[in-house]
Amino acid sequence: MAQRLSGKVALVTGAASGLGEAIGRRFIAEGAAVVLTDIDQATGTALAKELGAAARFQHHDVTREADWLDALNLAKTAFGKLDILVNNAGITTMGSVEDLTVDQFRHMLDIDLIGVFLGCKHCIPFMKGAGGSVINIASMASIRARPDLVGYNAAKAGVTHLTKSVALHYARQGYRMRCNSVHPGVIETAMIRKVLAQVPDPDEIYAGFVAVHPIGRIGQAHEIGSIAVYLASDESTFATGAEFVVDGGSSL
Ligand code: NAI
Repeated sequence: MAQRLSGKVALVTGAASGLGEAIGRRFIAEGAAVVLTDIDQATGTALAKELGAAARFQHHDVTREADWLDALNLAKTAFGKLDILVNNAGITTMGSVEDLTVDQFRHMLDIDLIGVFLGCKHCIPFMKGAGGSVINIASMASIRARPDLVGYNAAKAGVTHLTKSVALHYARQGYRMRCNSVHPGVIETAMIRKVLAQVPDPDEIYAGFVAVHPIGRIGQAHEIGSIAVYLASDESTFATGAEFVVDGGSSL
């Protein structure tokens, strides 16, 4: 593996599972040191132990500002700086505008949108000047709506435009920071298994997921790890405020 992130320090949220775990593993393989954060203390601690000296785990609820400051400070104290933030933590609750309660809707916005806002905001003092890359994991659900994903559609569409506003601010302030969004199609992770557990006809829904991807299958977590490495590395220094769609053609 080429060391495309050699000497860099990253913080990845929601890193105990799925895409966050894959991104954390790939960053370390590419030479980065990584603070893995999640609300799942047991799995996150075990993962950091497995990954060795280049990894640390921090319990971190992305909806809590105090947790953000603790996690960002850990990057500084453990590894000396912060170059990369991946706002990855997220949840999905299925439901239409008629089915979803306002509390369910708010909870999803809190984690999937406000959590990203807090990351984009609080990383600034740690990154400005030396520069850095903020990567927001949005979704193809930012681009295409489904009737049964009202909260997720709203939150992820919000992440797209939040990213552009933040990118403009970082650039205009001369912070040398970039901010981009990644839009995965359906990827085989625990989140998808949880979604399938919420529906009465999981086999039919799974077949439907495959059918909307012209490439003929759903994606694998390492395929999102690859775009994250590009955006985290100095290969992408002219990319900011952009939507990186990695979805097997499903938004076409
Ligand atoms: P996952 O369910 O496997 O992992 C999500 C992680 O986030 C879990 O470890 C969970 O403990 C953590 N988490 C949940 N609430 C949290 C909170 N308040 N604070 C901190 N951590 C929290 O999910 P997956 O699939 O890896 O999703 C990761 C991101 O990718 C999410 O933002 C999701 O919306 C996005 N995404 C996933 C797709 C998929 O098909 N799997 C497709 C498009 C986007």
